[in-house]
Amino acid sequence: MPKFQIAVLISGNGSNLQAIIDAANDPSYPAEVAIVISNRPDAYGVKRAEKAGIKTVVIDHKNYETRADFEVELQSQLTKQAIDLVCLAGFMRVLNAEFVELWRDKMINIHPSLLPAYKGLNTFQRAIDDGVRFAGCTVHYVVPEMDAGPIIMQAVVPIQQNDTKDTLATKIQQQEHKMYPAALSMIAKEKIKLINQKVKFDEVIEQSEILISPKI
Ligand code: GAR
Repeated sequence: MPKFQIAVLISGNGSNLQAIIDAANDPSYPAEVAIVISNRPDAYGVKRAEKAGIKTVVIDHKNYETRADFEVELQSQLTKQAIDLVCLAGFMRVLNAEFVELWRDKMINIHPSLLPAYKGLNTFQRAIDDGVRFAGCTVHYVVPEMDAGPIIMQAVVPIQQNDTKDTLATKIQQQEHKMYPAALSMIAKEKIKLINQKVKFDEVIEQSEILISPKI
């Protein structure tokens, strides 16, 4: 069976890209990274993609006068390949609604918070400052509104008293690296349906553990 073709869009380190590349190295993984696109020439993720022998394209947003011009080039690169799904993995450019609509239900993102809480930037410090007991990360479909859209998967990470934004980021990113390839695999295997803008799973996978923090 031909593998599900994905495009991964990055702006930086690319540790989530690496997690997807590593998962896709398993012959039984249902998806394959067809192209990596970075809007930053110096993104470390570009090196990761090249090392893995994946087609890599840099579209430096600074060379485009408008967001729309940048997106025309982005769309042109994506349509050169037969892409089934676009995965935003630390892609830090806002996308116009017109572009998002072109990839409606075919574009997902990973965000370092338990959405709909803590949209935007600096999510770890904001959660610590608010004194919440749990933080986490979310894989969701992309809609024109930023950090919104149907939620596919979430991981919950308890915040410990001595956590700093850096220790919390490390713990959350470890979960991201497990969750993004897993969510992607579910989509590739068609185990997910979008019904009325909510994600439904073919099989009911129970999450039985209830977490209380601090532990009682
Ligand atoms: C990840 O933690 C991801 O959740 C976050 O950027 C990081 C990228 O790391 N994304 C966002 O904040 C999007 N709103 P990576 O480049 O090492 O994968």
